[in-house]
Amino acid sequence: MTDKADLLALLREGTTYISGQELSEHFGVSRTAIWKAIRTLKEDGYEIEAVPNKGYRLVSTPDIMSYSEISSRLGTGYVARELYYYDKVDSTNVRVRQIADTASDGTLVVSDMQEAGRGRRGRGWNSPAGTGIYMSLLLKPDIMPSDAPMITLIMALAVAGAIRNTTGLDARIKWPNDVVINGRKTCGILTEMDMESDYIRDVIVGVGINVNQPDTGSFPEEIRGTATSLKIEAGETVRRSALVAEVMNLFEGYYDSFLGNGDLSGLRQEYEKLLVSIGTEVRVLDPGGEYSGISGGIDDRGELLVKMPDGEVRTVYAGEVSVRGIYGYV
Ligand code: BTN
Repeated sequence: MTDKADLLALLREGTTYISGQELSEHFGVSRTAIWKAIRTLKEDGYEIEAVPNKGYRLVSTPDIMSYSEISSRLGTGYVARELYYYDKVDSTNVRVRQIADTASDGTLVVSDMQEAGRGRRGRGWNSPAGTGIYMSLLLKPDIMPSDAPMITLIMALAVAGAIRNTTGLDARIKWPNDVVINGRKTCGILTEMDMESDYIRDVIVGVGINVNQPDTGSFPEEIRGTATSLKIEAGETVRRSALVAEVMNLFEGYYDSFLGNGDLSGLRQEYEKLLVSIGTEVRVLDPGGEYSGISGGIDDRGELLVKMPDGEVRTVYAGEVSVRGIYGYV
């Protein structure tokens, strides 16, 4: 039968009605089969108008997270083409780890909720159902382990760009792992790699985005002062599947540029445009000692450039440190 994702994509393209006849010719199936597929979509929550002698029209798409909703919006070659959608997992990073040996490069796991979402530095990641995006991407790049942190920056660029494209919000990057809006965190990235002596077996890039939490009261108390969601900022519900697909669409282009150049030289300008702290004073929490300076851009390897009071420019390696604004989180 007609693939739900293809049918959705076609309905979404149409500004007017598409007749059952056209659809059945397009997919090479009977009109009854089309009618049945439309009925399943309606059961899933899509509002589809059916007018005799005119055909079908997609009136509205609710915030549905599903395999079809995501895959019907993908424009990628290989990223997220192997896609797994779950209503519930412990952690999408863990789920990807379980299938990493057999799954292909670019495999994406998305879940509506996580029972044991993981954040950086051993923290958890609050992952209630129906509100956020929890996803992990499996990559198998032929690069040095020391190059892997650049992938986190590429994902942050893709998430910030996708939020901007789908909502118009002024999403910015807080180097190296977070995406912020109006100084509050809306996305965190947890990159984990599996190494064999000197080479990378795989890299798992886990992305958590606060999307439809209605107010800051929805967050655990300890992050209420620093977290936000797209809904809080935009004042309206955001379709998570469309955002997932847009992140993947952007990521593939950026990632290919990185693999082609071997570094971020092709992305630096675009990245710096979205970097939140350029020209402001930051505190670098280096395990070897804390210091403050003026944050600049990044170099071709994605290291943050921080100008010290004596004019010396230090490069901050993404792996080791946290950077904080002098007056707070950003
Ligand atoms: C951070 O601490 O800022 C990083 C948070 C990363 C959360 C995401 S949600 C999807 C993926 N699965 C996990 O368990 N964690 C990451």
